This record gives sequence, structure tokens and C-alpha cells, in this order.
Amino acid sequence: PTPIILDCDPGHDDAIALVMAHRSKAIDLLGVTVTCGNAELDKCVSNTLRILEFIGAGDVPVAAGCYRPLARPLVLGTADGPSGLEGSPYLPMATKTLEPMHAVDFIAKTLREQDEPLRIVATGPLCNIGLFVLKYPELLPKIKDVTWMGGVFYRKSEIITPTEFNAFCDPEALKIVLDSGIKLTMVGLDVTMQVLVEEPQYAEFRKIDTELGRVVNDWLLFYEKLHRNSMGVGGALHDPLALALIIDPTLVRTRPAHIGVDLAGTYAFGATVADFWKERGLPDNADICTEVDSDRFFELLYSLLRD
Ligand code: BDR
Ligand code: CA
Repeated sequence: PTPIILDCDPGHDDAIALVMAHRSKAIDLLGVTVTCGNAELDKCVSNTLRILEFIGAGDVPVAAGCYRPLARPLVLGTADGPSGLEGSPYLPMATKTLEPMHAVDFIAKTLREQDEPLRIVATGPLCNIGLFVLKYPELLPKIKDVTWMGGVFYRKSEIITPTEFNAFCDPEALKIVLDSGIKLTMVGLDVTMQVLVEEPQYAEFRKIDTELGRVVNDWLLFYEKLHRNSMGVGGALHDPLALALIIDPTLVRTRPAHIGVDLAGTYAFGATVADFWKERGLPDNADICTEVDSDRFFELLYSLLRD
């Protein structure tokens, strides 16, 4: 199995990514670090602990990270309700305790313990990863890559937002990561808005008649309502797609480019801009996911929930 750290802000779709990371035999979940984003940090932490307890992953270490973006106040996500994980009455309260250190120190400790460079999956604003870059530059060679759900590049006409939440929430952290030399894969809205839970997908989820299946269904039913109101489509499984790429990178096609982030924000604060044609002569700093095989993604997800 591939050892990973998952940095997240649960969040319904983060929650499903956590479930996948725990259940996949292809992944060894070394730890979970939590950032603010979909809700305030304490709520995202509580959600993480409760999810892990519920799925029998109480032994996975959890470290709390940044309570706000690096250079601005926190603007919360809107898709997950006040607790960040509304919809399921069945999650137990957590008995598990947090690691006695900040997320960035936990990442440093874990990297030092590993012989090989480690993969990180990030499914929230990049506050923790950005702060890590600032605090531990000497450990950057120990990060093999970061697979991040974030950004949008307008490669699909139905996407109407100039900015994606994780990028918009902490664009300074994103800039720090983009400039750090870390190998970054960006799983943006261009692909995640194609892994939608609509009626055919619900029908499959409903067939998974287990305790876990029912909780995932509850999450999806809540998540879909807010999604449909704001975007007119079913729930997009943004974060699960990023996690899935560790298990099966052939689910997407990628294209390298130099990526910039708009920090001036005259028209599109936090927008990610890709120089695909290399007109500015700057080196590529990320691989952008441009296409996804949605059916195969869902098959993978169903199988992880079933087996
Ligand atoms: C991203 O923002 C959050 O609401 C989701 O959890 C996902 O990480 C999608 O824009
Ligand atoms: Ca998220």
C-alpha cells in the first residue's frame, strides 16, 4: 500500500475521501491533519474524529492545524451546513484524542520517520501545507508529491465560477505551495464537476445496505440539496476524486503548466490561471487534471464502500 497523509476539512466530500482512504487496501493512512475551511477548525476536527471512530479507524493519528488562512480571515464553505457535516444522526461522539502537536509538526515528524518521500493528499484550503513550507523548507525533498483538490481552469463550459473554494479560501497558501517546488497535481472543478451524484448514482449507493452505506447516503442527501440550489447539479464528489487518484491515477488525464493565482483580485480573487501555451516562459509547477473517467471513479467508490 501507498503511505499517505490526508490533509482535510470535513466536509461531506472530505468525509467520503476519509472513508475511502481507510478502506482501500492500496492506501496506508499514516495520519490525518485538519484545516479550517468548510467549517471552523474545531468543527472540522470534531467531524474528523467522529468519522474515524465510526469507521473503526480510531488508531489513525489526527492533528489539528490552522484555524484561519495564512493572510486573511476565514470565509467558510457553504455546501456542508453549520457543523460542516450535517445530515447524519448516527455518528458517535469521539473518544479518541488529538496528537499533542500542530498539524505541520505532525507532518514533519511523520516525514522524518519515513525512509521514502511521502505522498500527501490535500482536500481543503492549503493553510497547513503552506505553513509547512514556511516552517520546514529542509523537509520539502521528503514530500514525494501533493495531490490537491482545488482550482478551476474553465476547460468545461458548464463551469461558471471563476474561483474554486479551496483556492479562494487561502490563495496566499496556494501561492506558497505553487512556488515551493513541491510536485503538485491539481484536481480542480474541471474534473470534479463531472463526478456528480445524480439519480443513477443514488440508486447504486442505496443498494449498499450497511451501516456505513446508510451514513454515506445521509451525507449525500444533505450535500446534494445545497449543491443543487447553488450549482443546479447533484453533489460533486470533489475530494473523493483527489483521493481516488492515489489508488488509480489512470482515472484522469493531466497536463503540466505554470499556474498562477490571482491575489490582486480586481475581477477574480483566488482564481487559478494556467499558462498552457508557455507564453510567459515560466517553468511548469503543477499537473492539472483535464479529463476524468467518471464511470470508473464511481465503480471504485462503490466497491470500496461494499467490500
Ligand atoms: C472543495 O470545497 C469544499 O467545499 C469541498 O470539500 C471541496 O474540497 C470544492 O470546491
Ligand atoms: Ca474539502
